[in-house]
Amino acid sequence: MHENIDRILFTEDEIKQRVAEIGAGITQDYKDDPDGVILISVLRGAAIFMADLARQIQLPCEMDYMAVSSYGNGVKSSGVVRILKDLSSQIEGRNVVIAEDVLDSGLTLTYLLKTLKARNPKSIEVATLLRKKTRAQAKIDCAYVGFECPDEFIVGYGLDYAERYRNLPYIGVLKPELYN
Ligand code: PRP
Ligand code: MN
Ligand code: MG
Repeated sequence: MHENIDRILFTEDEIKQRVAEIGAGITQDYKDDPDGVILISVLRGAAIFMADLARQIQLPCEMDYMAVSSYGNGVKSSGVVRILKDLSSQIEGRNVVIAEDVLDSGLTLTYLLKTLKARNPKSIEVATLLRKKTRAQAKIDCAYVGFECPDEFIVGYGLDYAERYRNLPYIGVLKPELYN
């Protein structure tokens, strides 16, 4: 385990298993629709989750990327969502599945859902690997949730602290003395 990690929440094997289940769920839910799905990953955190998820989906499946940021390098959300990179594809009439690494305050997904729904997709759903239990969380319907997780500072498998730790193969809690 990395020296700056307090404890592991979800191991590499647990994540792999859960991502396979989510992929099987998406495959099942869209199997009768010849249009398949377009996965949209919210950079940068969700890139690793989406790359693994896409390989567990047995459907016509496109991938596109959008970058928004609300956290910058800090621990707390700034409360402002900015589009840093828009999609390359048109999503009108498409089945969109947004892949997110973590739903925390819900600010990012609230903004994305509003922005993408305005483009008239055929359908739009959210697949989030992690959902934090926070009091402040906006009510967001997620069709696919990997794990519920505690409201602690978590890193790994795409999640960063000041851009580090995204490459850890597991999800763990960062030692509090590193950001206090
Ligand atoms: C993190 C995380 C989610 C978002 C969740 O992204 O990857 O996208 O915050 O928080 P919220 O529900 O409170 O909006 P961040 O803005 O840190 O950018 P990153 O993906 O590049 O790390
Ligand atoms: Mn993110
Ligand atoms: Mg971040």
